[in-house]
Amino acid sequence: MAIQIKTLDQLATMRKAGIVVGEALLLMKEAAKVGVTTLELDAIAAQHLKDRGAKPSFLGYHGYPNVLCASVNHEIVHGIPNERPLQQGDVLSLDFGAIVDGWHGDSAISFGIGEIDPADQKLMDTCEGSMWRGIAAAKVGGHLTDISDAIQSYIDAQGQYGILREYGGHGIGSEMHQEPHVLNYGKAGFGPELVVGLALAIEPMITRGSATTKVLSDDWTVVAIDKSNGAHFEQSFALLPDGKPFVLTSLDGGREELGRLGVEISDLLK
Ligand code: MF3
Ligand code: CO
Repeated sequence: MAIQIKTLDQLATMRKAGIVVGEALLLMKEAAKVGVTTLELDAIAAQHLKDRGAKPSFLGYHGYPNVLCASVNHEIVHGIPNERPLQQGDVLSLDFGAIVDGWHGDSAISFGIGEIDPADQKLMDTCEGSMWRGIAAAKVGGHLTDISDAIQSYIDAQGQYGILREYGGHGIGSEMHQEPHVLNYGKAGFGPELVVGLALAIEPMITRGSATTKVLSDDWTVVAIDKSNGAHFEQSFALLPDGKPFVLTSLDGGREELGRLGVEISDLLK
């Protein structure tokens, strides 16, 4: 399938989905404490979808059983919510998606439970920083791998991290996963041209050790084969008709984080 180019009206609907996702992640982060289970977080996300009249992106996607992905410690992505109480020092990654009027939003955050190992905090900060640098590198007239290069360069400069190779970002719109696939590594200047109306989910996934992963027998959970802890951040953003980016799943549109990197966001959406 070709890359889907969105109108400003369509992006405005994607913004609605993005806000639902951003709000739900915030609610879950506030609720995630020692003793709370990831199934309880899943219930919070499901309730928020109901409250906002939105639909889940993940439930039923290739048979996925929940509205949320919750991955703990060496589970990197696609963990299925369960009854295990969260423990002090856990590294938790939450990945959530919503549909409003047929248009998707997709975002993920990682954070620690209680007091955590400073090396785990640096892992998460590195992952999040690489995501924002990837988005900041997306300019109309540039190329897709400008994003990939910015992500990898930042991660490599922070230390010895494994960047997952089998998973990456993606186009997003009237389906959660669209073309193009966005690698989290590579050399700038290649791939499709970045144009107005393009919407991408940028989602680096890294570990403190090896980038080699396997899928558990539940057919979903992706774990680091060397059991090292991992982090995952994701935001869906678009290039707007004024040529500026807007982060659809960030409650402030990405104003603060992109501003810090010298990138002004569009004011065509709120
Ligand atoms: N949000 C994930 C991604 O960006 C997808 C989750 S897989 C699902 O690729 F099955 F849970 F939907
Ligand atoms: Co995604």
